[in-house]
Amino acid sequence: MTTRRVDTTVGIVGGGPAGLLLSHLLHRSGIESVVVDNRSRDLIEHTTRAGILEQGSVRLLVDSGVSDRVLRDGDQHEGIELRFGGLSHRIHFQELVGASVWLYPQTDVFTDLADARQRDGGDVRFGVRDTQALDLTSDRPGVAFTDAEGRRHELRCSVLVGADGSGSMTRHQIPDRRQYTREYPFAWFGITCEAPHSAPELIYTRSERGFALISQRTESLQRMYFQCSPDEDRDAWSDDRIWDELQGRLAGRDGFRLREGPVVEKLVLPFRSFVCEPMRYGRVLLAGDAAHTVPPTGAKGLNLALADVGVLAEVLERFVRRGDADTLDEYTPRALSRVWKAQNFSYWMTSMLHDVPGRSEFDARRQLGELESLVGSEHGRRYLAECYTGWPAG
Ligand code: DHB
Repeated sequence: MTTRRVDTTVGIVGGGPAGLLLSHLLHRSGIESVVVDNRSRDLIEHTTRAGILEQGSVRLLVDSGVSDRVLRDGDQHEGIELRFGGLSHRIHFQELVGASVWLYPQTDVFTDLADARQRDGGDVRFGVRDTQALDLTSDRPGVAFTDAEGRRHELRCSVLVGADGSGSMTRHQIPDRRQYTREYPFAWFGITCEAPHSAPELIYTRSERGFALISQRTESLQRMYFQCSPDEDRDAWSDDRIWDELQGRLAGRDGFRLREGPVVEKLVLPFRSFVCEPMRYGRVLLAGDAAHTVPPTGAKGLNLALADVGVLAEVLERFVRRGDADTLDEYTPRALSRVWKAQNFSYWMTSMLHDVPGRSEFDARRQLGELESLVGSEHGRRYLAECYTGWPAG
């Protein structure tokens, strides 16, 4: 079989939000890129992911001309509720730090980006297979792949970006990489249900039965999560059992009740903290989940990926202008400072709200002490608000 050669400036492995936003930002700077992804557009568009965008993420999408749909169709949230001891405590982001977050699902961010790349004539190849990284330590790294029509291609580029998610093929091919990992003895059971809103904004709950999170999607579709075992069997959970568990975790002295409806999707989400550091190896750079994974508590994953790409696009623009590979050194320290802040925040929110199996009575009471001191202190609430709404660009 003949192999077709494709040459470009930036090769991007992964056509999720990180890869597509990078390709879009490079296009705006007049830099050519090619994106390959082994998933179909349809599959990515229909895989449920998180739903919260920081203010800076929204600004990046709007200011770079991806979409203003986020401002029209997204829901601005001015705060969250922390619920424990059977009562809710509002953390009012706008009052505390003058910022908001937006409920706008990752699948919608992806659709906006894929449409923008299509509108601008971007070279994005979904549904490829047999991807294989080539000569990662050379001056002309690349990736070989078979396209959806069965033709074999070899993409060569000045810089290769791995934006191919937590199982990243690109990262796995980097020799001598350094990684930092933490595992957790629990997971989240995520559901989508057909029901009206139970609350206008998100409720993060710590209960004697474990963590629960109430989120939203639309007027008639809601998203909720509760802590479960990593090997939880989805099929062992009937709708009745799910609602009993969620109602039990949210129950309190204020008589709060969730509004129930048919469960249309069930999913077990693994928990892991992971960082690959540095994020640059020669002419190979990692972005988003390929470089780091956070536990879902606090919704930092997508926001971190978009922030990485904002930095990376600037660094790549300077690299192309100067033609000097040393410029690429700027990427890791600028991106990593936010990554470790987000690692700390996601870990902190997780440990403050979850019930670690085998927890002692001392630990349970200390955890309540931490939550009481947090919500009882304006400094504490402001710290949470600052982290949740996102730090300034690196
Ligand atoms: C959602 C997911 C999260 O992990 C989170 O912290 C907040 C919201 C969501 O899917 O809506």
